[in-house]
Amino acid sequence: MEKVIGIDLGTTNSCVAIVEGGTPTVIPNRGGYKTTPSMVAITEAGKRLVGHIAKRQAVTNAENTVYAAKRLIGRKWNTTQVRSALATCPYRIVEGPHDDVRIQLRDKLYSVSEISAMVLQEMKIIAEDYLGHEVRKAVVTVPAYFNDGQRQATKDAGAIAGLDVIRIINEPTAAALAYGFGRNLDRTVAVYDLGGGTFDISILEIGSHGVFKVISTAGDTFLGGEDFDSRIIDWLVKGFQQEHGIDLRQDRMALQRLKDAAEKAKCELSAVRETEINLPFIISSSRNEALHLQRMLSRDELERLCNDLIERTIKICESTLEDSGVSKDDIEDVILVGGMTRVPKVQHMVAGFFGREPCKGVHPDEVVALGAAIQGSALLDEQQEMVLLDVTPHTLGIMVVGGFFEPLIPQNTTVPTSSSKTFTTVRDNQTAVKILVLQGESQRAEQNELLGEFILTDLRRAAKGQVEIDVTFEINADGIVSVQAKDLETGRQQSITVTASSGLTQDEITSMIDEAKTHAVDRRATEAFEGTRQEAEKLMGDIERLFPQVEQIVSGSDFGRDAIEKARGVLDRARSLIERKDVEGLKEQLEALGRTQRMFKGVIAKTG
Ligand SMILES: Nc1ncnc2c1ncn2[C@@H]1O[C@H](COP(=O)(O)OP(=O)(O)OP(=O)(O)O)[C@@H](O)[C@H]1O
Ligand SMILES: [Mg+2]
Repeated sequence: MEKVIGIDLGTTNSCVAIVEGGTPTVIPNRGGYKTTPSMVAITEAGKRLVGHIAKRQAVTNAENTVYAAKRLIGRKWNTTQVRSALATCPYRIVEGPHDDVRIQLRDKLYSVSEISAMVLQEMKIIAEDYLGHEVRKAVVTVPAYFNDGQRQATKDAGAIAGLDVIRIINEPTAAALAYGFGRNLDRTVAVYDLGGGTFDISILEIGSHGVFKVISTAGDTFLGGEDFDSRIIDWLVKGFQQEHGIDLRQDRMALQRLKDAAEKAKCELSAVRETEINLPFIISSSRNEALHLQRMLSRDELERLCNDLIERTIKICESTLEDSGVSKDDIEDVILVGGMTRVPKVQHMVAGFFGREPCKGVHPDEVVALGAAIQGSALLDEQQEMVLLDVTPHTLGIMVVGGFFEPLIPQNTTVPTSSSKTFTTVRDNQTAVKILVLQGESQRAEQNELLGEFILTDLRRAAKGQVEIDVTFEINADGIVSVQAKDLETGRQQSITVTASSGLTQDEITSMIDEAKTHAVDRRATEAFEGTRQEAEKLMGDIERLFPQVEQIVSGSDFGRDAIEKARGVLDRARSLIERKDVEGLKEQLEALGRTQRMFKGVIAKTG
C-alpha cells in the first residue's frame, strides 16, 4: 500500500513520521537527529543548504540564511508581523508583487512558500532515504490559529516540493491524535503548544471509539520561542550600547551570533539557574579595537524579561476555555507540546492555571509529526476507525454596507462545513455587487483579514433591496475556504477558492514546482557524485603514492614505459571527469583506476 508521511513543518524545527505496521515512528535524518532545523541557505557558490548544515554556517552567511520563514508565510507585506521581522532578521525581506513577502538570497528572490518548500523537500528526502522508495503523499501540520492565507501558502509549499498534501491538520489536534492513538481513552484534554514561532491552545474530547473532537481552539501565530530570544537579544544589545555606545544590530553577523547565543542561553536556563553569554570579537570599536560581549544571565532575569509573553498564553487559555463552555475541572489531562514547554516557568504557569500537573509521556518535539502520520495512514486505510472533527479557528464572513462585518461561519464551527445567507442590493438599479471575504473577530470589516474579493455583475435592474444574492461559504477538511455568490433571479454565479492571500498565482506555483524538481534531481546527482569522487580519489591517492617507485622499477622496458603512460592517462582522465562533475564517466573510470592500483601494488609486491 502507498505510504503517506506526516510532516510537522515547524518554525524552528521540522519532523517527519510514518506509520509502519500500525506503529507511528519518527524518521531520523542522515545525522541521526529526529528533528531538522527549518533553515535554508544559499552558499556563495550558489549551493542550496537545508537543515543542520544550513544552521552550522548561519553565522558566516547570515544574510543568505533564512530561519523562521513560517512566521512570514501567507502574510501580507503591510502587517505589523512583517515589520517586526524586518527589524530583527539578518536576511533580506522585500515586498513581493502581490502585496506579499519575498526573501532575497544572493541575487534571487524567493517567495516564502518556496523557502518552506525547500524544508518540506528535505523532509521528503529523509523519508525516502529511510524507506528506500519515492514518497508522494503527505499530511502537513499548521498551527491551529493559522488563517486561510497561511494554510493556502503552506499547501502551495507542499506542491512546490513535489508533495501531494492530502490533508492539512492543526498541530494541537495532531498532538492529541498521537496522545490518544490506540489507547481507547474517553476524556477531555487541553493541548498547550508553545513552539518556536506560534502558540496554540485546543480543547478536545477524545472518545473511546477513535473519535477526536475539537471543541475550541485559539492562539497567536506570532508568539513563541523567537520572541523569548528577541527579549534576550534586546537585553544584550542595550547593555552593550550602554557600555560601548555601539549598536550591535547594525552588523548582520553580530546579530546572528547574538541570536545563537540568546537561544542557547534560554535553553540552558531550563536546566540551570545561571549561564554565561560569551561572544568574543563581536564587533570592532571606532578605533578599530576588537570588542567582546560577556554577560551573566540568570533564570530569574530571563523570567522577568519574558513574563508578559507567558502571561499572554495564559490569557488565551482563559478565553478559549470560556468560549468552549468547558470548565477547568472538566479537563482531565493537559498535554504540553513544543520545545518552549521545557521552560520551567511555562510549566509552572500552565500547571497553576489548569490546577493540575501536565501529563508526562508525550514527546514535545515529536508528537505533532506522529499525529500527522497517524492521520495520513487513517486517510488511506479505510479499515482504520478514526474520526477527526476539527474546528475553524476564525469567524468567516463578508463586508456589508457601512463597513460592518457580517459573519457566515462562526469560529469553532466543526469543519468541513458550509453556510449560506441572502443579501440584497443597497441602491436602486445597482447592477453589480462586490463581495469582500474576510476572516476575523472584529465587527468592523477593515479590522479583519481580507481573504479575497470578487464582483458579481449584470444583476437585474430593480429598486434597492429587490435583487437578492445568495452567498455560500464552504470550509473543507483542510480548513481552506471557498465562496460562491449567486444572483437568485438569473441563477448567474461566481465563485472563488480564496487564493489571493497566498501571494502566488497558479503559473508561479507551476514554474516553482519545475524548479524544485530540477533541484531534487540536481541534489541527488550531487550526492552520487560525492560518493563516487571519494572512491575515485582514494584510488588516485594510492596510485600517485606508488607512482615514483613503480616508474623506477618498470621504466627499463618498452612495455613498462607503455604501462606508465597508460597509468598517467587514467589519472588525467579521472581528474578531468572530477572537474566536469561527470558522475557516469567517473563511475566507469573507477574500473580503470582499480585496475591500475592493483597493477601497481602487484609490481611492488613482486619486486619488493
Ligand atoms: N530546553 C529548552 N529550553 C527552552 N527552550 C527550548 C528548549 N528546547 C527547545 N527550546 C525552544 O523551543 C523552540 C522550538 O520548539 P519547537 O521545535 O517545538 O518549535 P517549532 O515546532 O519549530 O515551532 P512552531 O510549532 O511554533 O511552528 C525554540 O525557540 C527553542 O529555542
Ligand atoms: Mg511546533
